[in-house]
Amino acid sequence: MTHTLRLAAAADLSRAPIDITAVLDHLVREADATAATSIGFPGAVDLDHTEVMTRLGGRLWNNIGDPADEGGIAHTRALERAVITWTADLLAMPAEDRWGYVTTGGTEGTLSALHAAHRRKPTARIYYSAAAHYSVAKVVRLLGAHGILVHARPDGEMDYAHLAEQLHRRRRFPAIVVATAGTTMTEAVDDTSRIRAVLDEHHAGGHLHVDAALSGIPLALDGRLSLDDASGIGSVAISGHKFFGTPTPCGIVLIRDHLRAAGSRVAYTATADTTITGSRCGLSAALLWHAIAVHGREGHRWRASEARRLAAYTVERLNAVGWPAWRHPHAFTVVLPTPPEHVRRKWLLATDGDTSHLICMPGITPGQVDAFVADIADTRPRIRPIPRPRPATASPASSHAR
Ligand SMILES: Cc1ncc(COP(=O)(O)O)c(C=O)c1O
Repeated sequence: MTHTLRLAAAADLSRAPIDITAVLDHLVREADATAATSIGFPGAVDLDHTEVMTRLGGRLWNNIGDPADEGGIAHTRALERAVITWTADLLAMPAEDRWGYVTTGGTEGTLSALHAAHRRKPTARIYYSAAAHYSVAKVVRLLGAHGILVHARPDGEMDYAHLAEQLHRRRRFPAIVVATAGTTMTEAVDDTSRIRAVLDEHHAGGHLHVDAALSGIPLALDGRLSLDDASGIGSVAISGHKFFGTPTPCGIVLIRDHLRAAGSRVAYTATADTTITGSRCGLSAALLWHAIAVHGREGHRWRASEARRLAAYTVERLNAVGWPAWRHPHAFTVVLPTPPEHVRRKWLLATDGDTSHLICMPGITPGQVDAFVADIADTRPRIRPIPRPRPATASPASSHAR
C-alpha cells in the first residue's frame, strides 16, 4: 500500500477506534522527512513561530469584519492593524488613502482588490499576462468579468507592446490591468511604470493591481515596489506564508481607500462587511505581527539579501556542472532545464514542461544546494553523454566531423 493510501486508511473516520496519535505522528514524520529536500516551493523556513503557536494556537482568534472597526469581536484586530500599517508604510502608501486587511492568501487579496475595481467599472476588461498565476483567471471568472490574456516574454515578463495592442482594440471599455511582481515560475517582475504609461495612453484612470504574492515584501524592502501617488498602482496582494513563512496560509491586501466601496454595516457583528470572508483568521494576523516585530525592516532586508546570495550561488554551481540555470537579478527563484523524474521528485521541484525551478527562500542552506547540485551532476552522463577525448592521432573521419 502506498504511503497516501496507508494514511487515508488510518485517518478514515468511519472506522473505530482511530489511533489519533499514530496519524498525527505519521504526518509529522513525513513532513520532517521531506523538509531537507523541499526546495521547490516558496515558503521561508528560517523564522521561529513557536511562541505565537504555543501561546495562541489553542484557542479561536477570529477578526470578524472590517479591521479598522472597534466594535464586535476584536480578538487580534489591533495586531492586524499594526501589520497593515507597517506594510502600507513600507510601500509608501499615502496615510490618508489606504485600506487593507489580513487575508487567507494572495488569491483572496487579488479577489478583494479586483472586486473593488470591477464594482466601480462593471464593464471593465481585465488584462493579465500568460505568466500570471492561475488564481487571476479564476478571480476574473468568479467576478463574471471579461478577461484578456496578454503575451508574456520567455523570461516571464509581460509583453508591453501586446498589452498596448490589446488595450487599443478595446479602448471603449474601462480597463483593469493585473501586473505580477514575482511570477510563479521565473519570479519575473512586470514594470508597473511601463504598464501605467501604456494604460494612461488608452485609458486614463484604469485600475492597476499588482499580484505581489511572493516578491511584494522583498521588493518593497529594496524600495523597488511602491504604492505612492506617482506609482499609479491602486492595489496590491501579498502572500504571508511565503516571505514570512507563517505556519498558516495567509496574506495581506492593500487598496487605495478612495477606490473601494464602503461595506454595509451588520448589526449583530457590529462591524462593516468589507472583507471577502466574514470570520477571519486572527492567528494569522498575530503570526505576521510577530514575524515583523521580531526582525523589523533591517532584519527582513538581511533575510532577503542572504536568500538572493544563495540563489546566485546556486546558479553558479549549476552552471559549473553544465546545467544551464539562470535567475532574474532580484530573484530567489533559480530556473533550470527540467531534471530527470527521480531528481524532480526527491527535491519537490515545481515543473512546467521543460522548465523547473527551485526557490532559495530564507532558511534554505548552501548544504542543501550542494546536495541538489551533486544529484544533478550525477544525472549528467546519463542524459547527455560526455564525448570521449579524441585519440592523439585523429582519423580522417574525425577531422571531417570537426
Ligand atoms: C504570483 C502568485 N500569485 C498568487 C499566488 C497565490 O497565492 P496564495 O497561494 O497565497 O493564494 C501565488 C502562489 O504561488 C503566486 O505565485
